[in-house]
Amino acid sequence: MNLYKLHHLIWFCVVFGIICNILVVLKISRDARNFKCFQKIQKVVEKLLLLQFVEPIYVSEVIEKESPEIPEIYNKSLQTMLFSFVTDGIGNKLFEVISLLGIAKTLKRRPVINATNPDYMQVLYADIQPLFPKLVEQFSLELIPDHFITRERISWGKCCMFDDPKKLQSLKDQYLILEGHYFQSYKFFHHLRSQIRDWLAPSKRMALKAAAVIPEKSKNDFIICTHIHRGEPPYNNHRKPSDPRFTRVATEYLVDIYEKSHSRISVVVLGDDLNFVNEVFTQSIKSNTSSYTVITVPILKPEIDLAISRIFCDVFLLTAPTSTFGWWLAYLAKKEAVIYYRDIEDSKDEVLRELEPVDYYPKEWRTLKTDKDGSIRL
Ligand SMILES: *[C@@H]1O[C@H](CO)[C@@H](O)[C@H](O)[C@H]1NC(C)=O
Ligand SMILES: *[C@@H]1O[C@H](CO)[C@@H](O)[C@H](O)[C@H]1NC(C)=O
Ligand SMILES: *[C@@H]1O[C@H](CO)[C@@H](O)[C@H](O)[C@H]1NC(C)=O
Repeated sequence: MNLYKLHHLIWFCVVFGIICNILVVLKISRDARNFKCFQKIQKVVEKLLLLQFVEPIYVSEVIEKESPEIPEIYNKSLQTMLFSFVTDGIGNKLFEVISLLGIAKTLKRRPVINATNPDYMQVLYADIQPLFPKLVEQFSLELIPDHFITRERISWGKCCMFDDPKKLQSLKDQYLILEGHYFQSYKFFHHLRSQIRDWLAPSKRMALKAAAVIPEKSKNDFIICTHIHRGEPPYNNHRKPSDPRFTRVATEYLVDIYEKSHSRISVVVLGDDLNFVNEVFTQSIKSNTSSYTVITVPILKPEIDLAISRIFCDVFLLTAPTSTFGWWLAYLAKKEAVIYYRDIEDSKDEVLRELEPVDYYPKEWRTLKTDKDGSIRL
């Protein structure tokens, strides 16, 4: 009898429990706030899943190391004057420090940056390290007393001509400083190209940000990247800003070429002046326009541009042919990217006086010339 009652009681409790649970669940799902919160959580979960999905694709683009080399430790040291490293933009900074690495390798010396110079340390850790942590690791930061140092002049007074450092190979001096300016020739470091691409590869975070800038529907298009550089007025005649007409006409010239082999083309415009970009690509300059999508990059951050170039640019066009940051974007573009640049004779940049085109532009890069009627040819 007692057992029979207990049995009923247990059943009653189980059924009551189930009904209570159902009521609670119904209440929760009817409660709009809770429901929104649940949706939010679900969105976050979806985003995380998406990231997991996106990440391997874009991150794998970034890793292309060919031969992981064990760095040799050389016992003689090399420094350069780092003339523009402290004051100039990221493009000039990169030329100086990457050339230091290239020349050090050529001369079998240890690349050294003067650790007692507070400006060098500031730039290295505030400007370079956040963008390129691996690059900073390539230098030995040392304190070398002045009276031990041997000084030699190379690349003196000219920004962009190659002055072969091999002539200093026989120097026996332990501590060498090269006094020279800018070192803007790829010949100083091209022998390290694959390592340079590794040292300057975008971080995973930047790769994902870049992937977020390019719309989903354009990601698999053939992508032509047009780089523009304007700077601030009064414009610099030494290294001239992009010309609107050239920018538009040359971009369309490239679209016409690549349309023949690719059905979908997108143009990604990278650069420092959004107003200029919008003017050039919304107002018609040429009467007949080919069909292509223009994507502008609203976030003006060099690290985003570098990641976009590395991951997405199949073709890269330099409209301001002596922009040093543009040069680096092109050098670091997708591995098989084809690079075009405006002929510096046409743009009449005054820097031509101290720039030797064969030293400044890698020989695979292609020159675009402008005819008198404004049309473009190779
Ligand atoms: C440089 O290397 C040589 C041979 O490896 C060694 O004899 C010499 O002491 C080293 N010099 C310095 C300053 O470390
Ligand atoms: C290193 O930097 C310090 C501080 O600017 C300077 O006094 C010293 O001469 C520099 N040494 C060399 C070898 O350039
Ligand atoms: C524009 O395109 C049309 C047809 O596609 C063609 O007949 C015409 O010659 C073109 N005009 C120019 C200026 O290229």
